Amino acid sequence: MTTPEVHHIVHPLIQHKLTLMRDKNASTSSFRRLLGELSTLMAYEITRDMPLHPVQVETPLETTTGQAIDGKKLALISILRAGNGFLDGMLSVVPGARIGHIGLYRDPKTLQAIEYYFKMPTQMEERDAIVVDPMLATGNSAVMALDRIKQLKPRSIKFVCLLTCPEGIATLHAAHPDVPIYTAAIDRGLNEKGYIVPGLGDAGDRIFGTL
Ligand code: URA
Repeated sequence: MTTPEVHHIVHPLIQHKLTLMRDKNASTSSFRRLLGELSTLMAYEITRDMPLHPVQVETPLETTTGQAIDGKKLALISILRAGNGFLDGMLSVVPGARIGHIGLYRDPKTLQAIEYYFKMPTQMEERDAIVVDPMLATGNSAVMALDRIKQLKPRSIKFVCLLTCPEGIATLHAAHPDVPIYTAAIDRGLNEKGYIVPGLGDAGDRIFGTL
């Protein structure tokens, strides 16, 4: 059994903003804004190993060789609907990224994930995929999303969430040991309804104001 590759991104700004998001009295607009800010901050760490290629650039003084990323090679894949809360913040630093969506819902009885939507960028085999969902809870949706995305053979895959717990990490790692997990916090566990505790509640409802 391998150890899961978990990148617990610890930074005072991230911890502070996450605490504000956990507050049940945070308004929908604050919650959404904070998630946007957090996803930009997390993108900095998540993209740390993005490949660079040399490019010639003319400064006002002379020609030199700089390094550039190819943002178009990146596919941000949102697990609907809460994953969409991550997109704008990440796009603010990698605006050329292509976007995919996968729609899954959790059967409230079995907590199993069922797919209802799947639309990915073309030529996924040439792209690095970053799959986003704020909450890695039971891990069932994440496993199913990764099963489907892997059929398109992306060059690499990372899984990004805001919050997770030991159960979510174990489930995802058991099914996809090759996929690193990036998170801002690892909470205590799951309650009987499959919510992360202490958590922040239903991320989708809090982003979209559908409480
Ligand atoms: N999905 C959420 O939005 N919140 C949880 O705590 C678990 C799953």
